[in-house]
Amino acid sequence: MNKIKAPVEPFRIKTVERIKPIDRRERENVLKQAGYNVFNIPAEKVFIDLLTDSGTSAMSDNQWSGLLIGDESYAGARNYFHLEAAVKEIFCFKHVIPTHQGRAAERILFEALVKKGDFVPNNIHFDTTRANVEVRGARAVDLVIDDAYDPDSIHPFKGNMDVDKLKKFIEKKGVKKIPLVMMTITNNSGGGQPVSIKNIKEVSQVCKQHKIPLFFDACRFAENAYFVKKREKGYEKKSILEIAQEMFSYGQGATMSAKKDALVNIGGFVTVDDDLLAEKLKNLLILSEGFPTYGGLAGRDLEAIARGLEEVLEEDYLEYRVNQVAYLGQLLDEAGVPVFKPVGGHAVYLLADRFLPHIPRHQYPGWALTVALYREAGIRAVEIGGVMFARKDEKTGQEIFPRLELVRLAIPRRVYTSAHLDYVAEAIIDLYRNREKVRGLRIVRESRYLRHFTVRMEEV
Ligand code: F0G
Repeated sequence: MNKIKAPVEPFRIKTVERIKPIDRRERENVLKQAGYNVFNIPAEKVFIDLLTDSGTSAMSDNQWSGLLIGDESYAGARNYFHLEAAVKEIFCFKHVIPTHQGRAAERILFEALVKKGDFVPNNIHFDTTRANVEVRGARAVDLVIDDAYDPDSIHPFKGNMDVDKLKKFIEKKGVKKIPLVMMTITNNSGGGQPVSIKNIKEVSQVCKQHKIPLFFDACRFAENAYFVKKREKGYEKKSILEIAQEMFSYGQGATMSAKKDALVNIGGFVTVDDDLLAEKLKNLLILSEGFPTYGGLAGRDLEAIARGLEEVLEEDYLEYRVNQVAYLGQLLDEAGVPVFKPVGGHAVYLLADRFLPHIPRHQYPGWALTVALYREAGIRAVEIGGVMFARKDEKTGQEIFPRLELVRLAIPRRVYTSAHLDYVAEAIIDLYRNREKVRGLRIVRESRYLRHFTVRMEEV
């Protein structure tokens, strides 16, 4: 692989936000009070916050100026029409329904389509899509290619769905039990890995053959399109917009968390072709989100999303974005720190079970690593492993752990410079050298759904 230099930011900084390192004793106290759960730590007590790339983007001057022309009419605000046009240009579906964020789009989509006993295949469901499927009494099924679970395979499109697995699954469960197939681009829970157009096309053919609609979980569609341009034959000369349009042309709709690739702090939408489905979605939207032209957002938010969707297609931005993440991955990899390969679009994923081989799975090595990163360097990362994804065996109550035990260092868009990433890399390399000091944890209190948000822990 070519050596990646720290990318030059294709923007200059007009406003700054103070961040402060806090001393170690205080970090220790903060951890105790937070029940060893980094979600419970006040953000001001974090130095470098890599918890998520969601809703953490820095908006551009163009987006900020758009906020001033927010039309706060209840119905038919001008910003809705701007958003509608921006979404239609990229996604090319007939109906655009704003929601306050991605999971709200998922909730209404699944409420409209999914019933008890159904199955929803995906490459890998993100935790909110999984929860929104399963809360309806249906099963969320992951049919990603096997390579996805091999952290050393450098398959260029590790987010691909296994088309044979999908065919067999449809045969086994029957078309009637599968109301839709989803594709998550990029595949967040599998390391932020892209899906190729070839794969999308093949999945879409299988779906078409069985008359099952194909939907995209499109949070990071622009990063996916950038990888297609760089890695898939025949797309080198196409624009990001053309690639995105082609991706979506193989499906019937998409849910979107605008908090990622629309470069805003809040918002989302669902966009579909089918008129009847759109009507159902709008009725559900009115119940909990709001009138169909604002969907739980202010007019100014809609404007920021519309402008963000234009900016995210800029190739110099995407090149910087993807290379910044790859740069951090490379610094760690060169120092021997176990990282998931290839590095994904929005985050570097540490292989926590290799990083901390002395901590058994039932003492949550990924979680332990997030605690250690905060304790040692004031860095906040997120576990994507046993705490987030373990299932409980219905009979024995024993935990069944997911195959991968990861810690994600998600990079907020346009927020941190390469110097920040150098600091992060140094801290992690240091921690890796002293890894045997890190201890496992046990759960003190947990909730039934999405337990990682609220779980309380203690160190063993
Ligand atoms: N789908 C994917 C692939 C996601 O990564 C997320 C959010 C959602 C759906 C839900 O969107 O947060 O706007 O409701 N991912 C965030 C993350 C939370 O940290 O990866 P939302």
